[in-house]
Amino acid sequence: MGALSKLIINADINKGTINRNLYSHFAEHLGRCIYEGIWVGHDSPIAHTEGMRNDVIEALRALQIPVLRWPGGCFADAYLWKDGVGPYEQRKKVVNVHWGGVVENNHFGTHEFLRFCELIGTEPYIAGNVGSGTVREMAEWVEYITFEGESPMTEWREANGREKPWSLKYFGIGNENWGCGGNMRPKYYSDLYRHYSSYVRNYGANKIYKIACGPNTADYNWTEVLMREAGDLMDGLSLHYYTTQTGEWGNKGPSTGFDEQLWFQTFKQTVYMDELIERHDAIMSKYDPEKRVALIVDEWGTWYDVEPGTNPGFLYQQNTLRDALVAAVNLNIFHKHNDRVQMANIAQLVNVLQAVILTEGSRMLLTPTYHIFDMFKVHQDAVRVDLALDSPRYEMNGESIEQISASASVDTEGTMHISLCNLHHADSAELRCELRGTEAAVVSGRILQASALDAHNTFDEPEQVTPAEFRDFRQEAGSWFIKLPAASVVVLSVK
Ligand code: AHR
Repeated sequence: MGALSKLIINADINKGTINRNLYSHFAEHLGRCIYEGIWVGHDSPIAHTEGMRNDVIEALRALQIPVLRWPGGCFADAYLWKDGVGPYEQRKKVVNVHWGGVVENNHFGTHEFLRFCELIGTEPYIAGNVGSGTVREMAEWVEYITFEGESPMTEWREANGREKPWSLKYFGIGNENWGCGGNMRPKYYSDLYRHYSSYVRNYGANKIYKIACGPNTADYNWTEVLMREAGDLMDGLSLHYYTTQTGEWGNKGPSTGFDEQLWFQTFKQTVYMDELIERHDAIMSKYDPEKRVALIVDEWGTWYDVEPGTNPGFLYQQNTLRDALVAAVNLNIFHKHNDRVQMANIAQLVNVLQAVILTEGSRMLLTPTYHIFDMFKVHQDAVRVDLALDSPRYEMNGESIEQISASASVDTEGTMHISLCNLHHADSAELRCELRGTEAAVVSGRILQASALDAHNTFDEPEQVTPAEFRDFRQEAGSWFIKLPAASVVVLSVK
């Protein structure tokens, strides 16, 4: 074990609200995310509600997901929404050009997605098609969903079984238009953003929050041009950054069976999120010092090589203790930037990339990442409070990162929650924590840890990695001493 680290928490210094939308998710028509993962159809022997599997609905409801982004991803800029409404037998079968070239039968469309959001208690976020769709199609989609009066779109909606409009707040004007969404240059996309977004209208009381396609990772020029040319017309600018353990797209490395070097490299890659947000925020602040425009990290998470023997276009990967720690570190980073980052959507909900749920036929399991979202949900809409941590460095092969990640917030009932993460693969860490500006005491804790770095849940053993009660804290001479095992995440309640 290394030296004692000092953590000071100033419970009375308010650092702003942690927007609950930082705990949002993303579901794309990719691999087995929508089909099998959510949608099994009306004739399925798997227990379902209107074609959507009950086990998944129940698990997601419990997670209190604030916002769900759909239908892509790259799929969004190929998606023609009109193919996905009306009687199932009349819906077009098309090819999913981005993901495995499989048949997309359009059975999960606008009605099904919005119903799914109702069932899991989440707000919808729709990504519109700029890459291959028209301005008119985008305008009509919003009209179809949100307009209450009489129009061809609302008549069509009613004929398709929905009389009342839905409420829809979040709308993305394209996805990755610098890449799969059209290979555009920033000035060209800025003009298209101005054009398309003008036709994304507010009907009645429904007010759309418009999100522009933002940069890929460290493309700071994209952020500069977008903010300069179109910042006045947007509510949010997206950012996509994935954690690949090697930093190389051609060789992302395995999701299990990795060694401690790859473990370290994964965290080295993941904490880069902090620098990315800081630097994009600085550019945004040149044009928007009031921070009216939010940074929306609507794709993040781990991306490894697919599981051997699975379709390379389906992006199915295992989810281990390492993914849990990646999620915890990123959530703490998002908290830290709560003045600019107002939404984050982990990729993706079920069976794809860093999923919170995996399914196999009628079976379902909760991944270690699920448990982090569950443990951390206490931070949603809580007030972040000031903290100072002198973390030891976690070193490997001449490189180093901070060993401990921490965040603290106070919820509406006055309970403080402290989320702590020890990234070291082998060393435990002891913290001496001073709680200032409060008389409260640490009363309970939960911990996620496991016997191996790549421990994961399987369909036969779904409870290999699950949270447990944490008791390794004590008070002495006015301070709290907290012992974090190697490779663990702890959430403490203080009241
Ligand atoms: O999440 C998988 C893909 O990653 C998305 O479709 C795309 O937006 C990103 O490149």
